[in-house]
Amino acid sequence: MNGYAWDHRVQDVDFEELSELYRVAPLGDKPPGELATVFANSMFACFVRFQGALVGAGRALADGADCAYIGHVAVHPDHQGQGLGSAIIRRLVERAAGHKKIILYANPGTEPFYQGLGFLRMTTAMAIWSEPDRALEAGLLSPEHDPGPQRAPAS
Ligand SMILES: CC(C)(COP(=O)(O)OP(=O)(O)OC[C@H]1O[C@@H](n2cnc3c(N)ncnc32)[C@H](O)[C@@H]1OP(=O)(O)O)[C@@H](O)C(=O)NCCC(=O)NCCS
Repeated sequence: MNGYAWDHRVQDVDFEELSELYRVAPLGDKPPGELATVFANSMFACFVRFQGALVGAGRALADGADCAYIGHVAVHPDHQGQGLGSAIIRRLVERAAGHKKIILYANPGTEPFYQGLGFLRMTTAMAIWSEPDRALEAGLLSPEHDPGPQRAPAS
């Protein structure tokens, strides 16, 4: 992975450029102002540049002891498949070391990527989404009546 420059400082980031990275990755439409807020509020961040251009990013929202949440992980399509995504996750996990749990939700289809990095499925994860219909359609949420994993009866 020669030629890549790694950075963990949010203050050097051009959020217009970061928004464009998420658009092409693709990870969706993420307005620059929103990105400035979520990255400023995250304890850890990771950025990768190639010849000065932002080609990879990720962040972890963490409370310093109990839980760290990894999100906004993406690599530019021209640079995917070379180990950058894995390296971003490994760096964030390293920086979040000491937290009792490090969690994330995978984009449907990317589960094998995270399983390869040691993440296990959470069987009781629950969420309130601001736009549940879109999340249901995308396969990120299960319908209300889904019973989820069955528990063995208490003896
Ligand atoms: C997912 C993503 C970050 C992976 O980055 P990357 O730099 O291409 O990943 P790596 O080169 O480190 O790949 C590591 C391993 O994961 C696998 N992998 C990569 N992307 C994958 C995907 N989308 N689905 C399943 N496996 C994937 C690779 O095949 C590789 O396996 P190997 O080690 O057996 O060869 C990148 O494809 C991306 O930005 N996708 C669009 C945005 C996105 O979905 N982000 C994740 C949000 S949850």
